Amino acid sequence: MGGGGTRILVTGGAGFIGSAVCRQLVAGGAARVVNVDKLTYAGNLDSLRTIEGQANYVHYRADIGNERGMLEIMRHERRSTR
Ligand SMILES: NC(=O)c1ccc[n+]([C@@H]2O[C@H](COP(=O)([O-])OP(=O)(O)OC[C@H]3O[C@@H](n4cnc5c(N)ncnc54)[C@H](O)[C@@H]3O)[C@@H](O)[C@H]2O)c1
Repeated sequence: MGGGGTRILVTGGAGFIGSAVCRQLVAGGAARVVNVDKLTYAGNLDSLRTIEGQANYVHYRADIGNERGMLEIMRHERRSTR
């Protein structure tokens, strides 16, 4: 899984599978990996320490069931990474 040059939204990216996906996409050179995770008991930011702070990675603590919140994240991402 590379992801080179593309912008990718990962939901549940602080979970077991999602954190591995985020790490791999960032290492693979994705233009931007946007992780939306509300951090339930299953979310663990420790598994993302190696990519935290990298220019092509960002985490938003938000519920993907919140439509307005998701639209706001997407608008913000579009503005800040145009
Ligand atoms: N050590 C291990 O072997 C291990 C550890 C954890 C999980 N697992 C297995 O992995 C599989 C599940 O992994 P997974 O990564 O799919 O799930 P997960 O439960 O590990 O992670 C789900 C993630 O989604 C987030 N989330 C949940 N609802 C959300 C919402 N509405 N909005 C935003 N974020 C939300 C949670 O905060 C969490 O970070 C299961 O089979 C489980 O048994 C194995």
